[in-house]
Amino acid sequence: MNKKHNFSAGPCILPQEVFEKSAQAILDFNGIGLSLLEISHRSKDFVAVMDEARAIVKRLMNLNDDYEVLYLGGGASLQFVMVPFNLMKSENGKAAYLDTGVWAAGAIKEAKKFGSVDVVGSSKEDNYSYVPKDYTVGSEYDYFHCTSNNTIYGTQMKSFPKVDTLMVCDMSSDIFSRELDFSQFDLIYAGAQKNMGPAGVTLVVVKKKILGKSGRDIPSILDYSQHIAKESMYNTPPVFPVYASLLTLQHLENNGGIAAAEARNEAKAKLLYEEIDRNPLFETFCKKEDRSLMNVSFRLLDESKKEAFDNAWKAAGISGLNGHRSIGGYRASLYNALPLESVQVLVDVMKNF
Ligand SMILES: Cc1ncc(COP(=O)(O)O)c(C=O)c1O
Repeated sequence: MNKKHNFSAGPCILPQEVFEKSAQAILDFNGIGLSLLEISHRSKDFVAVMDEARAIVKRLMNLNDDYEVLYLGGGASLQFVMVPFNLMKSENGKAAYLDTGVWAAGAIKEAKKFGSVDVVGSSKEDNYSYVPKDYTVGSEYDYFHCTSNNTIYGTQMKSFPKVDTLMVCDMSSDIFSRELDFSQFDLIYAGAQKNMGPAGVTLVVVKKKILGKSGRDIPSILDYSQHIAKESMYNTPPVFPVYASLLTLQHLENNGGIAAAEARNEAKAKLLYEEIDRNPLFETFCKKEDRSLMNVSFRLLDESKKEAFDNAWKAAGISGLNGHRSIGGYRASLYNALPLESVQVLVDVMKNF
C-alpha cells in the first residue's frame, strides 16, 4: 500500500501497529480460533480488554481510585447531554460554559434544555479566533464546562482556570497529547476518534463522589453511576473500538507516555507554524498565543491560488488537509500518530509553492 500523509481531523491516523494488531484480532483474537467480533463481551478475553482499557487510562493520567473510567457509545455529542443530566441540579440548576467554538456551542445548546446556563466567556463575535481568559466561575454554579482544544479553529486552552465548582472538560481533540494535571478535572470526556482510537466509543473519566447529587431521575443508560456499577458493560460495549483504543493507549505507554508524545507534538507544530509565519502566502485563523498543537488551521491569503496549492499537496501524497466546511481554508491535524516526516512533506510543499 502506498501510505498517504494523513492530516485528517478525525477519524484520523492511528499507529500502524494498531491497524495491524486490530486487523489480526478480527481474524483470530488471542489465538483462540475466534474473531474479536464474534465473541461475547462477557467472555474472559474481552473482559480482560475492558479491564485493561480502563486501567491504562488512570496510569497514563496519573489518577487515583477516586476516578472511574468508562467507554460509552453515542460520541462526544452524547456527553453534551449526559453531563447536564448527571451534574445539573434538578432544582434551580445552573452551569457555566466557555464558548470557544462550534463544539462548545453544541454543548451549551444541550445544557440549556436542563437548566440555566451562563456563558462566562465567548469568542464567537471574533470567529472563535482566540480563547477567552478573563472570567471567573463562582460556587453558585453546579459545574463549569470547557473545551480544551477547538478542532475547527485550531485554538487550544494553554491553561485552565481555577473554578469554585466542578470542572468538566471536553478533551476530544487533544486527549493524551500533552501533560496536564488531570486531577484538576472532575469529569473529562473525549470521542476516541482522534488521539485514542477509531470512531464508535467515547472515553469518560469521572470522579465518583460528584455523582448522584443532581436530584434528577436519570434514565439508566444515561446515568454514569449505572455504567460504573456495571464496570462499563451496562449494555454491550462497542467491542472493536474499545480494543483498538486499548492498543493505541498501549502504543502510547510503550513509547514514552504522554510526556514523549507532547515533545513530538511540539516539534511537529513548531515546524509547521514556523513555515506559516515565514511564508507570505499563508496565515493562521487564530491568535498566536492560543494556537493548537493538534489542529493547525490556516488559509491562503490569495484564494485564487487554491487550485494550484490543492494540486501540489495532493501530488505529494497528502490527504485530509481541507479545512472544516464552516471556515474553509486548510487544517493540518497533527495527532499523536502523525509522524514528523509527514509534516516535513507538507512544509516542503508550502516552501516550493
Ligand atoms: C472538541 C469536540 N467535541 C465534540 C465533538 C463531537 O464528537 P462526536 O462526533 O464523537 O459526537 C468533536 C468532533 O470532532 C470535537 O472535535
